[in-house]
Amino acid sequence: MKGVILAGGLGTRLNPLTRVTNKHLLPVHEKPMIFYPIETLVAAGIEEILIVTGGDSAGDFLKLLRNGRDFGLKRMHYAYQEGEGGIADALSLAEDFADGEPIAVILGDNILEKGIAAAVDAFRENPKGARIMLKEVPDPERFGVPEIDGDSIIRIIEKPSTPPSRFAVIGVYMYDASVFDIVRGLEPSERGELEITDVNNHYVERGEMKFSILDGWWTDAGTFESLLRASNLVAQGASRSDP
Ligand code: G1P
Repeated sequence: MKGVILAGGLGTRLNPLTRVTNKHLLPVHEKPMIFYPIETLVAAGIEEILIVTGGDSAGDFLKLLRNGRDFGLKRMHYAYQEGEGGIADALSLAEDFADGEPIAVILGDNILEKGIAAAVDAFRENPKGARIMLKEVPDPERFGVPEIDGDSIIRIIEKPSTPPSRFAVIGVYMYDASVFDIVRGLEPSERGELEITDVNNHYVERGEMKFSILDGWWTDAGTFESLLRASNLVAQGASRSDP
């Protein structure tokens, strides 16, 4: 399975930190944010990784990550997103890279305590449709939220004012190659973007969506509050594992 990291966007919720750089290059404890999703994919056994980014600081990703040797990779792949078409628009740039293989997609500001290896292995065994990951959170209205019935997801609602469950759809998604056809058929949302939640709801409607519950803490890092939380969680984890 190949890996795709979506690291574009304007990061407006972190202005002025993001006025002259990309959100995913900002520090989270002692590393740039983008290191964490790369490490998450590599730890799940993924050896081919594409980074999709855009904007004025796109070249800085190349300077920072080079060929991916720091992560044990042979090479790093890059794609440039023109404009701000949203997460699903960024994903469409991965079609040639995926080349018909299933992909694991991670949002560049998602930081996880433990791995996604179990979920990736489950998808590798049966790489048809899609698999998402859920985590119980105190503030589901900030995220995509699934309505769940037993083992099935009925639908996912993006940032609902009345959440149908206490789970967030975290920014880790596994898709078969039909994802690119789904993205081609999407209409922009009210905020003018192609939404990843719309992609996921297509798989839900087809009865081809599975989910895993994430073990360990998870946070995004796209707001001042969550960026600080991410640094604190990583720092606490590092101090616990010190001898
Ligand atoms: C995005 C997705 C949302 C998901 C979240 C996870 O939201 O749209 O469904 O729960 O990432 O980080 P955004 O961070 O773009 O608001």
